[in-house]
Amino acid sequence: MSHRYVVALGGSLLRPEESAERDTWFARLRQLVVSLEGNGHRLAVVVGGGLPAREGIQLASSMVSDSARLDRIGIAATRINATVIQQVLQSVGCDVADAIPHTVEEAANLLSQHSIVLMGGTTPGHTTDTVAVRLAASIQAKYCIIATNVSHVFNKDPREFDDAEAISEMTLAELGEITGVGSPLEPGASAVVDPMAVQAAMDASIDMAVLDGRDISRLDDALEGKSFVGTLIRT
Ligand code: UTP
Repeated sequence: MSHRYVVALGGSLLRPEESAERDTWFARLRQLVVSLEGNGHRLAVVVGGGLPAREGIQLASSMVSDSARLDRIGIAATRINATVIQQVLQSVGCDVADAIPHTVEEAANLLSQHSIVLMGGTTPGHTTDTVAVRLAASIQAKYCIIATNVSHVFNKDPREFDDAEAISEMTLAELGEITGVGSPLEPGASAVVDPMAVQAAMDASIDMAVLDGRDISRLDDALEGKSFVGTLIRT
């Protein structure tokens, strides 16, 4: 049976810190996508802005106070990163849409014509996590996978607290208690899951998975519906 999947791929995965592992990571990502396509599945990947988003926003921030303007810089960066992955996958012959859609509706439409669609952000006021959740709702995907650079959702910030505990399974309401619900982040700010995405998932009853996208086998497990190392978030 053919499935539709949505993955939010954190722009952090493309940052220079990950460069030592990049070739292996891209090779494993290509393998995964080729295998999904070969099995007749459809995959939308919503790529985050990572370093170019932060740098661009930082460059303008002393002169621009309107957060929607700074968000637009972030969105441009997400589209650059989406184009990088798009070109890598097209170069190995995958059926990837040529267009990088600007809206969730356009992405859903392209996904009915191609096995794979890459996109970035859409409009100001949220991050690519939110775009991914909205797209998952629009195409009736089983759930929305957030592939990022942390292993799980933690009960508190593991960068600040040594005793932070990784959570394997939780409800969306519990996630909302950690991240907040429905309040936009500052342009370029980072959080394990965007509170706007938590709101969107609650509104559309979309389950989520948060996992470390540096290890493609975790993504593979989650896509296959197997148990995976990461956090499963149920509605
Ligand atoms: P990201 O989606 O990359 O933020 O958007 P993120 O999830 O925190 O970070 P990484 O890169 O995946 O680790 C970067 C910025 O682009 C703007 C926001 O300013 C956001 O902080 N953005 C992105 C939007 O305004 N709308 C969008 O749909 C996407």
